[in-house]
Amino acid sequence: MSDFARRLIDWHRDHGRHDLPWQGSRDPYRIWLSEIMLQQTQVSSVIPYYTRFLERFPDVATLAASPVEDVMALWSGLGYYARARNLHRAAQQVMQAHDGRFPDCSASLITLPGIGRSTAAAIAAFSSGERVAILDGNVKRVLCRVFGIEGFPGEKAVENRLWTLAESLLPDTELGTYTQAQMDLGATVCTRGKPACMRCPMAEACVAARSGRTRELPAARPR
Ligand code: ADE
Repeated sequence: MSDFARRLIDWHRDHGRHDLPWQGSRDPYRIWLSEIMLQQTQVSSVIPYYTRFLERFPDVATLAASPVEDVMALWSGLGYYARARNLHRAAQQVMQAHDGRFPDCSASLITLPGIGRSTAAAIAAFSSGERVAILDGNVKRVLCRVFGIEGFPGEKAVENRLWTLAESLLPDTELGTYTQAQMDLGATVCTRGKPACMRCPMAEACVAARSGRTRELPAARPR
């Protein structure tokens, strides 16, 4: 296993988040719902919405059969409402194209509206342990710092390099833990403004920390 993956998985045991409401489940429907809500919204804001949503729409069949207005009403306040419309459309697509069984492999997940490459990978890693890489904003920041990747990560060439790097670091097992650990490190330690390098399991190996460049990596959008 890569040293990166080993350290992250070990770190997660003591310092990661373990008590989030969607973590007790491997049901891809529940994990999908949490990941869509978490795309642009913080954990603390998502939790009450997630709980209410699941009470009203406990499974994909119920969601698909409900009027989109009911879905929008329960989403009201979370923002980025295209997520809710895509959620409803995705539920209907699962009923039609997947016989009502919510997919748990990234190749099927990515065909659903609202699910991009990183979200498909996260849902698959959490629900079936599939060996696929995620690359969201937090993970981009961690990789740029630890491996000293130069250039703006929103640029296609840099992003392609980051995907290749992310795939090369994947462990063979514990994909769910590894995936959650990357998200947690980016959200709680390797933050944008003031990273807590003293608490970071990667600090010794981190290019940015070792060279005092955490403020310069990842590079800002060129202007
Ligand atoms: N942001 C996106 N997915 C997340 C997850 N599974 N846990 C915490 N934050 C997240």
